[in-house]
Amino acid sequence: MSERDAIELDVTLALAEAIGSGGITGRQLEGCAGPMAAAQAALEGRRAAGDLAWMDLPGQDVSGLVRFAEERHGRFDNLLVLGIGGSALGTIALGGALLHPYHNLLSKEERGGTPRLFVLDNVDPDQTRGLFDLLDWERTLTNVVSKSGGTAETAAAYLLVRDILEGHVAGKAGPAAIRLPVAEHMVFTTDPEKGVLREIAEEEGIPAFPISAGVGGRFSVLSPVGVLPAALCGMDVAALLAGADAMDRRIRESPGLRNPAGLFAGVQYLEYTAFTRRLSVMMPYSARLRFVADWFKQLWAESLGKARDRRGSDVHVGPTPVEALGATDQHSQVQLYVEGPDDKVVTFLRVGSFDREATMPQLHAEKPALAYLGGHGLGELLNAEQRATAWALARRGRPSIRVDLPRVDAHALGQLLYMLEVATGLMGELLDINAFDQPGVELGKEATYGLMGRTGYEALAREVAGLRKGA
Ligand code: PA5
Repeated sequence: MSERDAIELDVTLALAEAIGSGGITGRQLEGCAGPMAAAQAALEGRRAAGDLAWMDLPGQDVSGLVRFAEERHGRFDNLLVLGIGGSALGTIALGGALLHPYHNLLSKEERGGTPRLFVLDNVDPDQTRGLFDLLDWERTLTNVVSKSGGTAETAAAYLLVRDILEGHVAGKAGPAAIRLPVAEHMVFTTDPEKGVLREIAEEEGIPAFPISAGVGGRFSVLSPVGVLPAALCGMDVAALLAGADAMDRRIRESPGLRNPAGLFAGVQYLEYTAFTRRLSVMMPYSARLRFVADWFKQLWAESLGKARDRRGSDVHVGPTPVEALGATDQHSQVQLYVEGPDDKVVTFLRVGSFDREATMPQLHAEKPALAYLGGHGLGELLNAEQRATAWALARRGRPSIRVDLPRVDAHALGQLLYMLEVATGLMGELLDINAFDQPGVELGKEATYGLMGRTGYEALAREVAGLRKGA
């Protein structure tokens, strides 16, 4: 990877030299180097033992999946992804960053024959029925994504779509409902062996791609969970994985704080522990990266928010991730960041070169409030705003980190996503918690099963009902 293509991390504005006593000292950073090297060795050890298969995803063979996508090229106008949490957020982030900003409004020709992308990650009836009423089901491929296969929200959406395909409900075509072959209009992404989706796939010959053991939901964006929709929508899957692979090599070749994942995790760890800054804001200055911040929010929160450490002691630990968008949120949250409680570290995502540019015309030469913009590009303005916000924070002694992407493309995105995943694993090691489970999420899922009458969850349903009465 040439330097021109590499994403870079700049932590200068988190250091004491730049922001004063609220900044990290050289000594603190040095003190973190040893534990970080040990954390990295521990992760690599678990990877070698086969526990962390998500770390090997950059090198996976995706030829079958790419062939599947190629065979369907031009056949469908819509790709509907049903999933939630880790089974949806990666796809939303990829689509937001790598497709045309208004992909779904383009004509089929303008989309290069690829389908529109819809990701349904909620069970809101208005949203669901509103979308279903719009889709031409003959021209829609539905990708049901669930590692467990049983998540209530995804199961519910699957049942509704299946009902339409089986001809029980009229779709866009009007009152005359039509029956469509499920195996041609659906594809699953699920556990390779277990779960109800795998069972149905095997019974009915529905194509199904695997989410291997060791690939948890929030670490699955580079697995078929994200890569299949990406390939179907014409994103450059090879470049995405090559970017992740380049980051993997970079991390391994420069251990500890000398690679971006280690440095990012090290600074975040010091902010959390030494400065008790409990909030971690991600603020892209690129509308295309907006959903990367959303994806990161889940990755950071679900991985690091834990009740117990690995020895079983109560710790109730975890930074709270917050998302913001530059420049939009300069006129919303930034006042709080600059002058409110000093409890945050902000990570800016900044883009070197935008795909499109809009240069402001030289109008109103007589009006200084407008004339100064003439001849400058919007990208230049956006990046100036990022610098201005970082400066305003620094002036108040508030820390920030900057990730520079040369441009928003699949290669840079692969680097960024993989870097953040490894940083999350490293942060988990430093906090001495298991970053790869989610007992709090499971508890809520199981209570939902109970409340909705699923067999085997009656006791939990009674417990929830009791709480309601007592409250
Ligand atoms: O990261 C996670 O593990 C969760 O957010 C899951 O992805 C989410 O709960 C969906 O689970 P599943 O893929 O089993 O439907």
